[in-house]
Amino acid sequence: MNNLAPSSEVLAGAPTKVVEIIDLEKRFGDRVILNRVSLDLYEKENLVVLGRSGSGKSVLIKCMVGLLKADGGSINVLGYQVPLLSVHELNELRLQVGFSFQGSALYDSMTIRQNLEFPLKRNLRIFDQEVLNEKVMQALKDVGLENTVDMNPDELSGGMKKRIGIARTLILKPKIMLYDEPTSGLDPVTASEINELILQVRDTYHTASIIITHDISCARQVSDRMVALIRGESKLQGTFDELRGRNDEDLKHFFNY
Ligand SMILES: Nc1ncnc2c1ncn2[C@@H]1O[C@H](COP(=O)(O)OP(=O)(O)OP(=O)(O)O)[C@@H](O)[C@H]1O
Ligand SMILES: [Mg+2]
Repeated sequence: MNNLAPSSEVLAGAPTKVVEIIDLEKRFGDRVILNRVSLDLYEKENLVVLGRSGSGKSVLIKCMVGLLKADGGSINVLGYQVPLLSVHELNELRLQVGFSFQGSALYDSMTIRQNLEFPLKRNLRIFDQEVLNEKVMQALKDVGLENTVDMNPDELSGGMKKRIGIARTLILKPKIMLYDEPTSGLDPVTASEINELILQVRDTYHTASIIITHDISCARQVSDRMVALIRGESKLQGTFDELRGRNDEDLKHFFNY
């Protein structure tokens, strides 16, 4: 992994930057979605990007893995300049960045085992059934759902599907996890369990994660740091308590001032 941090920071023992986004711009036609977005992600931290529905959160993380092309600015992920990557380099990067989609995006016609084996076969070219089995069972254990291995997605609750979606991403042991609305559509207790899982992933695998959400309870529970996305700009970076303490007009509906 390339080191993005200036050498002085490294000498001081500061954590390493794994993502550096500077002045990212994204338009669709003449609609400006992201105007000037800058953020840093450091190793082993959970960064929450908080924004209202339609504020461009999903667009932001899609730009980070090259699923959408940015119109301006720079996006450095694990030392790769994303907008400049060839298809081959993008694939290399995507092996190291787990993308947990807003829906759980499981294949309904496959069992849970087949859903989890799929990325191992496709991305890592693992076909040895014993190795596949061991990795599938470990991933299911990580999310507490070993008993679902032979079930179909339509037999699972929304919360279980989210966990399996996370397991399918984790199984490739990514350095960075991107969670898009991990708690959407879940009741508060189930949402809280998903938040616990996100913390557990950080602590077990030492992954750096970006968690995109408009759920303030999720932000409080999982964030080490936060950044708010407001009218296409990244604003107000800080801890949950720091952001809450700002009494900012744009954040008041999140924090219920
Ligand atoms: N492929 C696309 N083509 C055109 N417009 C798009 C495309 N993807 C997103 N948009 C627009 O960009 C804006 C931001 O969308 P985005 O999905 O990033 O919102 P979001 O913050 O993730 O919202 P939510 O919280 O509801 O998921 C929306 O107005 C959306 O219509
Ligand atoms: Mg979204």
